[in-house]
Amino acid sequence: MDRQCTWQPGRPAQPSLPAGAAVPELAGGWPLIGHLPGFQKDPISMLSRGWREQGELVQFRLGPREFVLFTGPEAHDFYFGAPEEQLNAKAVYQFTVPIFGRGVAYDVSPELMAEQLGFLFPALRAAAMRRFARIMSEETTQFADALGENGQVDLPQAMNELTVNIASRCLIGQEVRDQVDAGFAEAYHDLQKGINTLGFFLPKLPTAAHRSRDRARRRVARIFGRIMADRRLSGARPDDFMQALMHAQYSDGRALSDDEITGILLTVLFAGQHTSAVLATWTGLELLRAPSYLARIRQELQDIYRDGEAVSFEKLNQQVRLEHAVRESERLHPPLIMLIRKVLKPLQYRGYAVPAGTMAMVSPAVSHRLPHVFADPGRFSPDRFAPPACEDKQHRYALIGFGGGKHQCMGKHFAYLQLKAIWTVLLDRFDFELDTGFPAPNYGSWVTGPVTPCRLRYRRRSQESVFQ
Ligand code: HEM
Repeated sequence: MDRQCTWQPGRPAQPSLPAGAAVPELAGGWPLIGHLPGFQKDPISMLSRGWREQGELVQFRLGPREFVLFTGPEAHDFYFGAPEEQLNAKAVYQFTVPIFGRGVAYDVSPELMAEQLGFLFPALRAAAMRRFARIMSEETTQFADALGENGQVDLPQAMNELTVNIASRCLIGQEVRDQVDAGFAEAYHDLQKGINTLGFFLPKLPTAAHRSRDRARRRVARIFGRIMADRRLSGARPDDFMQALMHAQYSDGRALSDDEITGILLTVLFAGQHTSAVLATWTGLELLRAPSYLARIRQELQDIYRDGEAVSFEKLNQQVRLEHAVRESERLHPPLIMLIRKVLKPLQYRGYAVPAGTMAMVSPAVSHRLPHVFADPGRFSPDRFAPPACEDKQHRYALIGFGGGKHQCMGKHFAYLQLKAIWTVLLDRFDFELDTGFPAPNYGSWVTGPVTPCRLRYRRRSQESVFQ
């Protein structure tokens, strides 16, 4: 741990158990439906109660399925470190197959999926990040220009629009960004509607939403296919994810098909866009109710951009106060509140036995509010990430908003950069005020944003912009 950091984590006493003990059950389950009503009403207070009553491992039932929740940094370490043959993601994420397509991501073996995603790492290196920082700032400036002098904006909707533009341009290619308004946004939206509770359990059921999802998948394949054909014809080789995949070869020498490329690009877009929009929204909301911290961020902007230079990768990296605010928003409002794996082989943790067939879960939303890990956990306090506290440094899995282990998010640095670029430009340009009360989380969606509408009033600041 960093020598400047002083926070010492506490640790609740662990029971010493004979090997093979059953995981304790959460009280209050009903015959047949189990804990479904409480889970549907407010999954996080139900899961938090599980931790308070039973500790690191607690068992509960949703209809016919048994779940075990792993809570706390040490339990996360075990969870994220377990081999795929034991704790398996593919078995859980089958609902993504009709969206991403056959032959990619969760439709293939974990090794092949890792190879496919691995093709993208070169496109996330520092040189690319420098270019992305410029694009992020350009797109946000364009977005801010369209807002005019003052008005009202629905923040989740605005962040969604902005991050679609940024993600399509950075992560896929300029041509896709050019087609956002000419059909791509609509197709993407229809694909997103394919992620619903029914789709999770029965992804192939021929419902209207699923038919529209399948049509949208074919439309996206046509759009991407045309762009790839044009690039091959013209010899254009832009430096983006699509091109990285067009050049890639599997370890056996085979090139990727256009449909595989489309599927990998959709995987990344789905993993990275909505999550970013939601965290950008929560960050803005938290900053607005912490005016003294917001004033310190504005001061940081003044100091860093004193030379009048443009927003850049280097400058954004220096914006530590803003980064801590993003991280604190990730802690309080992780967009993915639950990560799930299927237990394929029975496992043992501290004497507890978890049988095969169980669904194993970690919940960033529960674990980020553990009082022995984060001091006064309900309070928005970005300084907890700065020395001397450095509360996140006490354990590599204290903060898990981007997951961990083999499936750890590959876009974490991209996401931090993007959120900082967005709020740097918007805070420089406008003063904001919440038009509605601070919103509650909407647990009805796969990615947990605030309930809508969630409107802000904005007014252009009278001060000169701090950067070019
Ligand atoms: C605020 C934004 C984001 C959040 C909160 C987030 C969160 C996460 C989490 C929690 C996981 C692990 C899922 C699991 O273990 O089941 C994950 C995986 C992933 N993320 Fe992100 N993510 C974000 C942005 C991005 C971006 C921008 C990209 C693309 C550049 C991206 C690409 C991925 C991919 C491809 C995976 C799957 C990795 C695998 O299974 O091997 N994410 N993300």
